[in-house]
Amino acid sequence: MRVVIRYQSRGGHVKEIAEIISSGIDIEPISIDDPRAPLTKPVDLLFIGGALYKYRLDPSLEEYIENIPEGMVRQAIVFGSSALTRRPVYLIQSRLKDKGIDINPMALYMRGKPKPYLREIVPPWAAREVKKIAKQIEEGTYGEEPEAPIVQMMKAHEEKKAAKQAKSEDQATD
Ligand SMILES: Cc1cc2nc3c(=O)[nH]c(=O)nc-3n(C[C@H](O)[C@H](O)[C@H](O)COP(=O)(O)O)c2cc1C
Repeated sequence: MRVVIRYQSRGGHVKEIAEIISSGIDIEPISIDDPRAPLTKPVDLLFIGGALYKYRLDPSLEEYIENIPEGMVRQAIVFGSSALTRRPVYLIQSRLKDKGIDINPMALYMRGKPKPYLREIVPPWAAREVKKIAKQIEEGTYGEEPEAPIVQMMKAHEEKKAAKQAKSEDQATD
């Protein structure tokens, strides 16, 4: 399981989010400007973040995503910051999707500077996501569609009913 963190940040807000994620999974966050940023080995989970500037992503982030080689990344978790809207997250997700990268349904968005409470909730969340995906890969269940919650509830109900019936039949034969 290979996990990496990449981010684009002009003023430091997104960098701070990247560092908070990093503290939960012990992976160095690397700015896309860093010479080590390009992905050269397959990645199972990419945490990637950026901000919104004049309603757009920074062109350097657009270019970075565009240059990710086909098939290099299995799944991405997106994080972002802006003054007003979640658009940076949607823009990053949409570009990654165009590259054929799976998008984790969870994303992390913060208006402006990260609030202190992120330090409590984000590191364990990041660690849980990494663990979950690692387990799916290990068990060979990655990519399988989970059953819809309503189907899970119906199955649980049927199982409970069957167990109750079996118990009453046991009692009847005692
Ligand atoms: C030049 C510039 C343009 C911006 N344009 C937008 C914008 O169009 N919409 C928005 O919601 N926030 C906008 N912002 C706010 C940033 O997205 C926000 O401050 C973000 O936290 C910056 O992240 P960073 O510190 O990692 O660069 C802009 C900020 C700057 C400096």
